[in-house]
Amino acid sequence: MRELFLREGLTVRGTNDGETCVHAVERHFDRNGGDMLAAIRAAYADLEGDYAFVITHHDDHRLFAIKKGSGLVAGLGGGFTCISSDLPSILPLTRRIVRIRDGEIAVLAPDGVGLYSVHDGSPIQREEEHYDGPIEVAEKGGYPHFMLKEIHEEPTVAGELLHLLNNSKYVDSFLKALDTPDSRPVYFVGCGTSYHACLLGAYYWNQIARRTAIALLAPQFIEQCGQSVGPEDVAVFVSQSGETKDVLNAVKAMRERGGRVLGVLNVLGSTLAHASDVYLPLACGYEISVPATKTFVNQAVLFLYLAYRLAGRDTGELAPLPDLLARTLDVTDATARDVAAYLHHWDDLYYLGYGVTHPIALEGALKLKEITYAHCEGIFSSEFKHGPLSAVRQGYPVLFITAPGDEAMMINHVNEVTTRGGRAIAIAAEHPALRANVHDYLVIPEANRFLSPILLTLPAQLISYHMSVARGIDPDHPRNLSKTLTVD
Ligand code: F6R
Repeated sequence: MRELFLREGLTVRGTNDGETCVHAVERHFDRNGGDMLAAIRAAYADLEGDYAFVITHHDDHRLFAIKKGSGLVAGLGGGFTCISSDLPSILPLTRRIVRIRDGEIAVLAPDGVGLYSVHDGSPIQREEEHYDGPIEVAEKGGYPHFMLKEIHEEPTVAGELLHLLNNSKYVDSFLKALDTPDSRPVYFVGCGTSYHACLLGAYYWNQIARRTAIALLAPQFIEQCGQSVGPEDVAVFVSQSGETKDVLNAVKAMRERGGRVLGVLNVLGSTLAHASDVYLPLACGYEISVPATKTFVNQAVLFLYLAYRLAGRDTGELAPLPDLLARTLDVTDATARDVAAYLHHWDDLYYLGYGVTHPIALEGALKLKEITYAHCEGIFSSEFKHGPLSAVRQGYPVLFITAPGDEAMMINHVNEVTTRGGRAIAIAAEHPALRANVHDYLVIPEANRFLSPILLTLPAQLISYHMSVARGIDPDHPRNLSKTLTVD
């Protein structure tokens, strides 16, 4: 559409979708005799995808709003009206609301909100609602905890991130900044969950793009590489908050050696954003729950996307991901709840993964420790026989996370546990032989080897969530932890 606008002589300043929406309306404004309603109706026919936006003309005292797919709700106050994509932001101002539906244009004046059909411009009658619920419930979108809400946002935010990456000029700058003279290894640096995304990213880059990436914990990066990196080196610092002190210390160490600093972050305007030569956003919206969930998924999506770009592979192959994520939540939740009920009685657990699923095992174990207070260790499955196997006894649960292609080997690792009386819990796509060898099976949808680890993350998150709730713990606020760690 931007090319069309330029051909028509409009001034196009940026590349973001918001500006595109403005021009989409603007080009119909004069043609329709300066009638905003008519211009928006014409623009609606041109715009594709999901959006919600508010627009006005400088000579008009009214605001016009329209949505497709995305949320939009208007508030009616005493002598004012307001509109937002987010109900909780309205509730402190007024409890009188009007929900806007697809195909409706809302026109806001200080004394009221009018609704009009986008199809024929006719007025629509809608009674205002009075929202009586607590703000907290609205904030949680009807879910009992932010964690569950944020898990259920994963399909949407993954789709939004892919859309953003496909259209962002910063991806090219980011890829350019990754160029090193002799394709030397690149460092991926983070803490906690973000570090696990770095580990997964390193697998992706090796297996898809044949580029060596070394994933390191931020303090480890300082200790292990802080004296040897130089101006030719590049490191990608990954942090949801962009404020984790350990990560910022590592950035400082990299800067002191003259190396390039790339950032991957969720909070725009964070210290990491300012400290980076180039950064890419995770585009997840706020993550309120202390355990990171949707930001991990998008960190993984971002690394996968970049690996595809580096390999010159068609990123269109990633398009099914949002739908696969949504289906994964649907088909694994009930079993996750059952498995959580069994695990609830154990305080010392193991998550096993192999290769690309090793980071998911580490992440599954971290999430479980964090919000259930049970101890859980993530292990490279082939390592289990080298020591931890001695933990297995009658009924002892071990979780196995498997990507397509690794099932035959994982069955060997499963049998080491089951022959000693252990209970094997598999998370994998359907595989009859694996199914025949385990006690519980959380089945994810079929997907390629690289999309699968991202899907496999979701049942692991659900298991920890349900186990946390079964233990009477608030998963959003586990004891002793905070969302942003600004201390060494
Ligand atoms: C675990 C979790 C933490 C964070 C870690 C890094 O669920 O949230 O392990 O991943 O504290 O935080 P960021 O990504 O903000 O640097």
